[in-house]
Amino acid sequence: MVPEVPVPGVPATIHLTLDGRELTARAGQSVGAALTEAGIRSWRRTRHGGRPRGLFCGIGICYDCLITADGVPNLRACLLPASDGMQLTSTGSELTPTTDGGVA
Ligand code: FES
Repeated sequence: MVPEVPVPGVPATIHLTLDGRELTARAGQSVGAALTEAGIRSWRRTRHGGRPRGLFCGIGICYDCLITADGVPNLRACLLPASDGMQLTSTGSELTPTTDGGVA
């Protein structure tokens, strides 16, 4: 385990929300890391098929981890630093898979 290094002026524990659900994270974590550590593996769905997506590459290449943060859509969670009070919104969760493999 990597020891925590305090950052001057930044609280060691920060608070953020995903779709209104309150989460805590460690200062310096990316949004993707904070969500994964909270046990959340998926925060968006694909347009075709409604398949769940979250972290995949973890280094900003695949764009699987897109999320809306403080109203700004399509941000890569793996590169986005988590910040205190950040409001995250999952994407595409309103899509419902249909019996023919599409989404409605
Ligand atoms: S996990 Fe691949 S771009 Fe974020």
